[in-house]
Amino acid sequence: MYSKKVMDHFLNPRNVGEIKNADGVGTVGNPICGDVMTFYIKIKDNSIEDVKFKTFGCGAAIAVASIVSEMAKGKTIDEAKKITNEMVVTELDGLPPHKLHCSNLGADALHKALSNYAAKRRKKKRRTETKKKGKGNK
Ligand code: FES
Repeated sequence: MYSKKVMDHFLNPRNVGEIKNADGVGTVGNPICGDVMTFYIKIKDNSIEDVKFKTFGCGAAIAVASIVSEMAKGKTIDEAKKITNEMVVTELDGLPPHKLHCSNLGADALHKALSNYAAKRRKKKRRTETKKKGKGNK
């Protein structure tokens, strides 16, 4: 039996879609059922300004993605990194035991998007530093 909150987020999922030119994108697949979830994030001043998701998953996965998007929006990067699968289940007022594996996709996809953002930033920083060094040699 699903909680009212799960049903609400499944029937009216928040933040569905894609962010063009997202600062970070993370896709994860569930090895148990093969379902897939992608998170897109936009970062401003070290916080998640916008977040969207797309999922090819079950009703529980849709509810999970929806609640994770709400939990993440407005959080700093460090706060968002601390969102765990257990927190997601608690926030949804629980999931049936056989659906607990569905809760893994949400936080994992979000964290992957955050890692992707961090990797892009490191790459950009390296490029800027290389350019600066190049100028200094002239
Ligand atoms: S059955 Fe695949 S995520 Fe729920």
